[in-house]
Amino acid sequence: MNGGSVGELALTGGEPVLGSLAPVNWPRTTDADRAAVLSVLDSNVFVSDRTEETAVERLERSWAEYLGVRRCVGVSNGTTAIELALLAHGIGPGDEVVVPALTFVGTAMAVVHVGATPVYADVDPVTFTMTADSLAAEITERTRAVVPVHLHGLSADLAAIDEVARRHGCVVVEDAAQAHGARYRGTPSGATGNTATFSLQMTKNLPTCGEGGLVVTDDERVADRLVQLRQFGETIRADRPRRYVSHRLGFNAKLSNVQAAYTSSQLERLDEYHAARRANVGAFLSRLRDLDGLTCPSEPDGYEHAWHILRFVVDFDRVLPGVDTAAARSVLMRALRAEGMPVTRYQMMPLADQPALRALVRQTPASWPVTQDVIDRSFTLQQRHLPPDAGPLLQSFADAVEKLWAQRKVLAELAEGAGR
Ligand SMILES: Cc1ncc(COP(=O)(O)O)c(C=O)c1O
Repeated sequence: MNGGSVGELALTGGEPVLGSLAPVNWPRTTDADRAAVLSVLDSNVFVSDRTEETAVERLERSWAEYLGVRRCVGVSNGTTAIELALLAHGIGPGDEVVVPALTFVGTAMAVVHVGATPVYADVDPVTFTMTADSLAAEITERTRAVVPVHLHGLSADLAAIDEVARRHGCVVVEDAAQAHGARYRGTPSGATGNTATFSLQMTKNLPTCGEGGLVVTDDERVADRLVQLRQFGETIRADRPRRYVSHRLGFNAKLSNVQAAYTSSQLERLDEYHAARRANVGAFLSRLRDLDGLTCPSEPDGYEHAWHILRFVVDFDRVLPGVDTAAARSVLMRALRAEGMPVTRYQMMPLADQPALRALVRQTPASWPVTQDVIDRSFTLQQRHLPPDAGPLLQSFADAVEKLWAQRKVLAELAEGAGR
């Protein structure tokens, strides 16, 4: 073992690049955000049956305007947003809904909660999103809907996916939970003509100070159904007292005015933050792109990434040859964390392998080879470490990665030692 090099790695007692693991620094709450929340508290407007515009209605109007869509409906969170969107499109028991094999579990749970069966499509190895081909491979006569996910802030290839969906008479509900600010062929994600859902959960690029969600659509009938579904199936109108008549089985899935006011205030800064994040991430990735055996996240032509999560895929056969992949990934991540770079795994298994979902799966595990490979060979850096002023921090992370790459032999020896 090369003692001098081992000494330089923080994992083995050397000086770390950063004094400690970089702290979580998101969302950023400004005086304007505080004032927005306080104004709701002071107004005493907490419910939806009011004659004046509520903070929820204000956010719905602003987000619809921002995207250039007809309607936006605020709901309690991003999972409920998908669930209500599927219900509003008439999806239910007996239907199959295709979702990507790599996404947050909420995407599939929403499908299960409407009584439909999730079917999992493999993802592209570069964009990590469902493709038109992987979708087409899973379509049966029972498929009624498709939920492409703009994972990590990069839109799925909607033109191709929409075309397959249209051919098979399927509804497309886009899960844009991670994609506020992203664009596809110049159009903001969520505004490409399908119903789309967003999460406002506090880690997201457009956060609230807790939980929240938004559904957008150009279809007035779908929007009206969503409004009923979120509030006990009732129709609440500003021009008359509440009638307490439930026209359909609904939920109590309302967005709170406090959460909405906070998000409206954050929306004022979304573009500024998006631009800063693009510059920071661009400079960060440009330092790492040429490292042997490391594939950085990329932005294909025609796409604008929202850089919500950065996923790095490692060719361990090149970087740590002869070491078992799980051991290699583990030592690499431990070494990066020891240097102060808070890398994590995002999703530990293809969605269908989740214990809660396994019983409902009709496909074989071999159906998602790319997803499995991506999960096995990657690590991520998440949004809470990518705030708008993270430029210098990201440069330190680049120092950490470069340091490890320079000491790959030592890392390989450490991984082999751990495996023995
Ligand atoms: C891709 C994706 N879909 C759905 C959700 C669910 O959103 P929420 O946490 O607001 O329910 C999330 C949030 O983490 C997500 O990342």
